[in-house]
Formats: sequence, C-alpha cells, structure tokens
Amino acid sequence: MKTNNIEVSSRDNFGSRFGVLVAMAGSAIGLGNLWRFPYLMGENGGAAFIIIYLVFVFVLCLPIMFSEFILGRRSQSNVFGAFRVLAPGSKWGIIGIFGVLASICILSFYSVVGGWSIEYLVKAVLFDFTRAGSEANHATMFSDFVSSPVKPLLYHLAFMALTAFVVLAGIKKGIEKYTKMMMPMLFVMVIIIAIRSLTLEGAGAGVSYMFKPDFSKVTSGTFLAALGQAFFSLSLGCGTIMTYGSYVSKDENIMKCSAYTSIADTLFAIIAGCAIMPAVFAFGISPGEGPGLVFITLPRIFASLPLGGVIAILFFVTLLLAALTSSISLLEVFVSYLIEEFKMKRGGAVAIAFGIILLLGCFCSLSQGAMSGVKLFGMNIFDLFDYVSSNVLMPIGGLLIVIFVGWRLGKTAAFDELTNHGTLKIPQWLLETVFFIIRFVAPVTIAVIMIF
Ligand code: PHE
Repeated sequence: MKTNNIEVSSRDNFGSRFGVLVAMAGSAIGLGNLWRFPYLMGENGGAAFIIIYLVFVFVLCLPIMFSEFILGRRSQSNVFGAFRVLAPGSKWGIIGIFGVLASICILSFYSVVGGWSIEYLVKAVLFDFTRAGSEANHATMFSDFVSSPVKPLLYHLAFMALTAFVVLAGIKKGIEKYTKMMMPMLFVMVIIIAIRSLTLEGAGAGVSYMFKPDFSKVTSGTFLAALGQAFFSLSLGCGTIMTYGSYVSKDENIMKCSAYTSIADTLFAIIAGCAIMPAVFAFGISPGEGPGLVFITLPRIFASLPLGGVIAILFFVTLLLAALTSSISLLEVFVSYLIEEFKMKRGGAVAIAFGIILLLGCFCSLSQGAMSGVKLFGMNIFDLFDYVSSNVLMPIGGLLIVIFVGWRLGKTAAFDELTNHGTLKIPQWLLETVFFIIRFVAPVTIAVIMIF
C-alpha cells in the first residue's frame, strides 16, 4: 500500500470541476456523434432509433459509467493498476488488459478517420467541394483519397502528433487546458451549422424523420446498433472513464459528473443530427447512406448550399476537434498504464504509445487501398479493428466492469464512493436502483444482446 500512496500523491490531477466535465465530455463527444450517430440513425429508422438509444444511455450505460468512475477514483490508478489496488493478488487485472487493448484498437482506426477530417478541412478551405460537382464525383474523390498509399498516412501521422502533443503535456497543463479551449468552440460551431441546416427549404422532412418515431423499422439489429453506439459514444468499456476518473478529486460528485457527461454527449448527438438530417432531406438524399454520409454526401450538400463554403470549413473543424478530444482520452489510457505499470517517464510512454498506434494505424489506413486484399473473418483490417473494439472488447470490458463492481467490490464500497464517504446526500432508493442495475440488469442485458 505504501508504494500506492507514493504514486497517489505524485499523480497529476484535474485542476477544476469545469476541467473534469469538459475532459469527460470531450472524450464522449467525437466521431461517434458526428459521423456514426447520424448514419446509424439514418439506417435504423430515425426517431425510433433515438428513443431506444436514449433508454440505453440513461438506464443502462449511466450506471456503467458510474462503475468505471468508482473504480478509477477509488484506486487512483491506471486501468490495470486499479484492479491491483482494489483486488490485490487476483486475476481481475485482465479487465485492465482488455481496456488497454480496446483503447489501442479504437485509436488505431479512429486516428485514421481523424486524419481524413484534416484532409477534408484542407479540401474545404481550397473549395474542392464546389469543383467536384456530382455525388458520383464526391464518392470518387473520397475513395481515391482513402485508398491512396501515402497521403492518408501523412494525415494520420499529423493527427496522432496533435494527440500526442496534448497528452505529453500531462493532465492539468495538457488535457484539461486544451479540452477547455476546444469544447465550447465545438458546441458553438455545431449549433451554427444546425441553424443553417434547419432553415433550409424542405428541412421539415428531416426534422420529422428525427422526431416522429416509426417503430416498423425496428428489428433486433436496431437494439444491437443502439447499444454498441451508446457504449462507443459514452467511451465506455475501454478504461477511458476509469482513467479520467482516477484524476478526479475525492470531493467531486461522481453521479452528477457522469450525468452531465451523458447529457452533453446526447445533446451533441441530437444537435449534430439536426445539423445533418434536415440538409440531407432538403436535398432529397436518402438518410441511410451509411458511413459515407459525412465524407461524401455532406461535402456535396455544402457545395450547393448558400454559404456552404463557410459551413463546410466549420463542419470539418468541428469534426477534427471532436475527434481530437476523444483520441486524447484514448491515448491517455495506454500512456498512464505504461507510466505506472512500467515506471516510465511520460515522455517515453507517449513515444512508445505513439509509435505503436502509428504503426497499427498505417495498416488500418492501407487496408482501404493497397492492403484491401488482406482479410480476416471477411473483414479488412480497418473494419476488423472497428468491429473487434466496438462489438467485442468494449461490451466485454463493460460487462466485466459491472460484474466486478456489483459482485466483487460490493455495495458498501460503491455507495461509499458515490456518496463521498456519506458526505453527499443521495436518496437511498436511487443508490439501491443504481446498484441493482449494476449488479443484475446491466450484465444480463449486455450478455443477452451480445449472444443474440
Ligand atoms: N466516444 C468517442 C466518440 O464518440 C469515441 C471513444 C470511444 C472515445 C472510446 C474514447 C473511448 O467518438
């Protein structure tokens, strides 16, 4: 315990409540909101998907977020060390290994898409969208870019360099400082884009698509998509909330912090939907265009929109910043693990993590072109990383975390942490309900959905 105490006292921490909130929201708000949520909503029946998603977020995932937060803050340790502290001599550390692997896996393809957003920002600044013309040309422009051998790799490198730059500076002087600057800008920009989109002629169809549920479109796949998206969007199951939680002071209210994070994330996803769907409908495009929505459909819309040039720039800046604040949190999971478990200096840990992600990301990027023939389980490397992290590692990580908190850490310790040793007055029924979800509802639901 003595060594742990030394570690605790020498750890960097968030400096303010606002800092904690923006960093957590920064992790949650990302490509998941701007790129994934709109197309999943488009493919899964609009409002019906949103309703199922909301239930998952606030009933199931919020208690999972509490659990991760509890583990991080109570142990004041990285995702692996947390289990060394809370369950010494046990095998539970495997959850931490899952977390580290999941974050590496996600960051490898996430940073490639982050790189694409830099390239698209450059394209927006150079008015490339106006020149491209038809939708087919936009599709070709996108596939030519992502399949080219060198350019996407350079953008991937640039994106990872930005991420590493922030993480290298530490928690207070890096993560907190930069997310505090980026997050308010993000909200302002996405609101401006939403206003532009909502005031287009014919925008009403997009609005009713988002807010009028059509349950005939709901299948079992809708539930899986909604759960996967909730996990991904809230950054659950891969140790980011645990890691950030470990830098949060002992008098912060875990339940409030988590609730604000979930609300901010959901609000952002809905505003992002309002920025995208009304424009898609106003231009008579089908909402179920899939992953190409942001990089093919939107640029084409921007090209023919009054003021579209400015909106395009705003949109890709938003996408880039959102991706950055999330990738920072992913890199920190790996970096804090290296620092604390292998007694490395932050600089060395960042260098190693950077190198590994850079290499894996290159494979993800090349799998869109030169290496597209390399397939495992019928998927290219990029899709495999995406699939394994979102559909396997994150749900299993989440499952093991709630099992750990519900069955091993136990109620007394969990309540102690949620109430800050009894100093916060949280109604008993609420605590009991949360613990019931952590202990029974969450593990069963995740297991059932994963099996089916
Ligand atoms: N939540 C982020 C997004 O929506 C992605 C992410 C997943 C970040 C897991 C950290 C951990 O884009």
